Amino acid sequence: MNKIIAIDGPSGAGKSTIAQGLASRLGYEYLDTGAFYRAAALKLHQAGLAQNSRDEQIGDVLKDTRFEFTATGELYLDAVSVSTAIRTPEIGSMASIFSARKVVRNYLINIIRACAHGKDVVTEGRDTTTVIFPQAWRKFYITASTDVRIRRRFKQLRDYQIDTDLHEATTDIVDRDERDSERELAPLAKAVDAIVIDTSNMSIEEALQEILRML
Ligand code: DC
Repeated sequence: MNKIIAIDGPSGAGKSTIAQGLASRLGYEYLDTGAFYRAAALKLHQAGLAQNSRDEQIGDVLKDTRFEFTATGELYLDAVSVSTAIRTPEIGSMASIFSARKVVRNYLINIIRACAHGKDVVTEGRDTTTVIFPQAWRKFYITASTDVRIRRRFKQLRDYQIDTDLHEATTDIVDRDERDSERELAPLAKAVDAIVIDTSNMSIEEALQEILRML
């Protein structure tokens, strides 16, 4: 049986870094589900669609889109690498808006599951533990205080060479928390069987070590 380790939690808690670190230490593939929502938002935006577009319009664009996620964590949208283009706060906020649409979720969930099929993977993103992979072998809910998450997001944006300031990082985290937690479909929530790791006072390496001990 292939093994899936699913990592859920709010923005900026350290999910990506922890998931990538775990995947490389365990020799598993890394699957970043948020990247699919970001890439879909980029494509829908490029196609001129917005929050109020009709389901059929959104579905038609998605049906014509090819998503490929490589084992090294690169995402290709219609054969073009978008790994950096999808990291801007604008795309993050569009992803959060479009991901609240059923037509988008239903479409991406199948693509994401197919990417994990038959493989050992460490996957991360909202609802990976509750909806996408409810049967995951291990589930973790990584969280941290809002202040710590804002500082981490700021650093992450800078690392991607994205020109930003603390105010923008704050809006990115706070607005997204609100939208992702309050939406009707697959809101940010802790699975009952997920182990909570609060990384506010831990380095990411310490969190990683703690998770490795629990496997
Ligand atoms: O994890 P991230 O910041 O890359 O995610 C971008 C947005 O995509 C986030 O606001 C919520 C959405 N998302 C989702 O709805 N379900 C997932 N499994 C992953 C991300």
